[in-house]
Amino acid sequence: MELSGKTVLLGLTGGIACYKAAEFARAMIREGATVHVAMTESAQQFITPLTLQALTGNAVFTSSWDSRMANNMPHIDLPRKVDVIAVAPCTANFIAKLAHGICDDLLSTLCQARPAQVPLLVAPAMNVEMWEKPATQRNIQQLIEDGVGIMGPASGFQACGDVGKGRMLEPVELVEEVIAALQPKTMAGKRFLITAGPTFEPIDPVRGITNRSSGKMGYAIARAAWRAGAEVTLVSGPTALAAPYGVKRIDVMSAREMLDAVIASLPGQDVFISVAAVADWRVKQVSDQKIKKVAGQSTPTLEFVENPDILATVAKRPDAPYCVGFAAESENLKAYAEAKRKKKGVPLLVGNIGHETFGKDDNTLILFDANGAFELPHDTKQNLAYKLIDQLAARL
Ligand code: CTP
Repeated sequence: MELSGKTVLLGLTGGIACYKAAEFARAMIREGATVHVAMTESAQQFITPLTLQALTGNAVFTSSWDSRMANNMPHIDLPRKVDVIAVAPCTANFIAKLAHGICDDLLSTLCQARPAQVPLLVAPAMNVEMWEKPATQRNIQQLIEDGVGIMGPASGFQACGDVGKGRMLEPVELVEEVIAALQPKTMAGKRFLITAGPTFEPIDPVRGITNRSSGKMGYAIARAAWRAGAEVTLVSGPTALAAPYGVKRIDVMSAREMLDAVIASLPGQDVFISVAAVADWRVKQVSDQKIKKVAGQSTPTLEFVENPDILATVAKRPDAPYCVGFAAESENLKAYAEAKRKKKGVPLLVGNIGHETFGKDDNTLILFDANGAFELPHDTKQNLAYKLIDQLAARL
């Protein structure tokens, strides 16, 4: 419920992507938002106010003159009672109006009348030719300069039959953009490199050794860092999770592949968070053929060699970013974690009781730094990730 307690004003302008706006409204409500809708006249050609009223449970506004408002000033009252305005779909015409401050209907007027602290987001949706025209691009640049958030557009198959840029983002992606717009941008301009998940060390082409890490904590941190404004690269071992929205994910299997991906991505990073449960050992002799069971022969014996320590390798480089380690212990967390922080040479180490949290959606974290230990009490992994980002913001 990432939008609990938040009120969103959803604006619809006239494009075929209006059919997706209904799902966008529902998706925000599922995240806990209250949604109010304002529609232009053209939008009502594509979808009715009744549909949006039924989905949001709130009266829909379509005119600058509306006696349902005590003062008959919907353009003033509506933007005052919301946390964010999202115009989706947003036509080339509406973008042009916003760029020039034209107020000739309710939606354009209320965007202009919004209080300074209410962010405005637009989701362009139009034919590729319209999107690429210099006039549209000029207007988009103007909106960026004016601090308007531009959501997308995506490339792909368009309703008109063309293929190219101009498709509205999908409703789930728009929800991610709205959630991010409401987060303080404590990590704006920062670059984060994060590892997550287990590694998989092969025995032969069909077998291997791995561990129970689900990747949830690392993915939650990647998501929180992106929502706080960072550019995020996530180097992930095999997990069942979808890449967090906005995050660049690099998939790897073994510890050595993870190290290579981390080193290749390292230049320019400000923060490295090593959340992955990296296998300490790999099989010395990986068979390039499936090891067969032969009647009468003894069971195979595996010999192991130590894997590189990715975190320690990064931490001792001269160009090391701010490094954060994780320690999954089964007992003696405090003593082991403090020793591990020193051994790995990192300013911050996050401890947790590993086997109790693997695969779960919640956790308790203890932060160890030069000043001692500090607990982030039991919470969802996503909320803990936000708190960890707050802690980092205070330290960077
Ligand atoms: N780590 C790493 N590379 C490894 C092993 C661990 O980068 N080969 C990182 C983990 O991502 C984590 C930290 O080091 O941030 C601590 O991992 P952990 O498995 O708890 O510690 P180990 O060094 O493996 O020590 P031990 O298994 O003996 O507790």
